[in-house]
Amino acid sequence: MNLQKELILPCGAKLQNRIAKSAMSENMSPRHNDPTNALIHAYQRWADGGAGLLVTGNVMVDRKAIGEPGNVIVDDKTNVGLLRQWAAVVKDTGLHIWPQINHPGRQALGAINKDVVAPSAVRTKVKGMSALFKQPRALTESEIIAIIDRFGNSAAISKDAGFTGVQIHGAHGYLVSQFLSPLANQRKDQWGGNLENRARFVLEIYRNIRAKVGPDFPIGIKINSADFQRGGFTEEESMEVVQLLSAEGIDLIEISGGTYEQPAMIGAGQKKSTQEREAYFLDYVKKARKLVQTPLMLTGGFRTVATMEKAIADGELDIVGLARPFTLHPDLPNHIFDGSLTRLEIPTPKTGIKALDTSGFVDTMWHEIHIARLGEGKVPNPKLSAYSVIGHNLSATLKKLVFGRSIFQRATKK
Ligand SMILES: Cc1cc2nc3c(=O)[nH]c(=O)nc-3n(C[C@H](O)[C@H](O)[C@H](O)COP(=O)(O)O)c2cc1C
Repeated sequence: MNLQKELILPCGAKLQNRIAKSAMSENMSPRHNDPTNALIHAYQRWADGGAGLLVTGNVMVDRKAIGEPGNVIVDDKTNVGLLRQWAAVVKDTGLHIWPQINHPGRQALGAINKDVVAPSAVRTKVKGMSALFKQPRALTESEIIAIIDRFGNSAAISKDAGFTGVQIHGAHGYLVSQFLSPLANQRKDQWGGNLENRARFVLEIYRNIRAKVGPDFPIGIKINSADFQRGGFTEEESMEVVQLLSAEGIDLIEISGGTYEQPAMIGAGQKKSTQEREAYFLDYVKKARKLVQTPLMLTGGFRTVATMEKAIADGELDIVGLARPFTLHPDLPNHIFDGSLTRLEIPTPKTGIKALDTSGFVDTMWHEIHIARLGEGKVPNPKLSAYSVIGHNLSATLKKLVFGRSIFQRATKK
């Protein structure tokens, strides 16, 4: 099977097969933002499932900028013992586990972040949910340089803890993606304006990490094929950034798309034909394949093994990224390889309220609950209704916000 073939990355590291679990924010660490036993247990289940690469949900590079209350933070060495236990789920297996390192910028919940920062003072607008996001203030140049360094530090701590690579979160409207977007980045200095300037932030992050982890350690990135917003980061610009990163020597480029304002990454708000088609961003990746040699990973909408196999066989991409299917089928790579799984049936829970259903909120929460179930050793419940997700989320969010506030108070006291 093509999906079982190994892949050697530019840095020399080997991925054992072509299936990767893509990042899913687990939001399971509300008390101290450290990896919890349940989180580690969920990753043990996934490691046992045989994916060549497990990318973790986004971990924060700065405890003063937290996307969601339960994110893990890696910004100093205080939790390195727990990080070691987390990374150890792949020990002696040859599988890879990479933390996805992230700064949320303006896409950070206002309730748990005192000082929300972004390239420019442009607020996130999400239909019906804008109140969750504060007006950000524009970063100063020295703050930009400090954040670049934080990505490098977070990567170095992760390496020290035993993670086998790192992924920069450059997609979905978070800080790196905000710098790339002309809508979010309206700076007039060397960090904004033309694409060369807007791409400076991500290139400097890559260089900072590389300088700290050395030439043999895999560094990947998740990047938007486009933001799907008028005046936003376009497909043509994305292709240019992919070429710049490739020329720097990055090891793996994962393609996705969208932001909180336009959640194309999970098919929400997309045309019906796109939602029904497998692999939402396949056309993009086919074009990018012609431009770069760097291994390409594509995530979003893959559901049949036949489509995955064909994409690898045709050389359109190197790694198939899957996210939601892993919450219901933690062992999916092994079951694909032994032929017992050929189609991944994933329900799309709906409330019937259009604004909620197109926001992707319920769908995302539904899978977040399933990651928590995995961590608790429970079996998935494909019949879980959209309304029970909302009920569960309200009580969980309240709890996390209470804990989140105390974290925020601690962080701001530092
Ligand atoms: C619960 C949940 C959390 C997610 N968290 C992240 C994240 O932390 N980082 C990221 O890059 N993408 C995140 N995503 C997006 C997925 O990585 C993926 O791009 C998207 O779900 C499409 O892939 P799929 O069709 O295989 O699910 C998340 C998706 C879900 C459902």
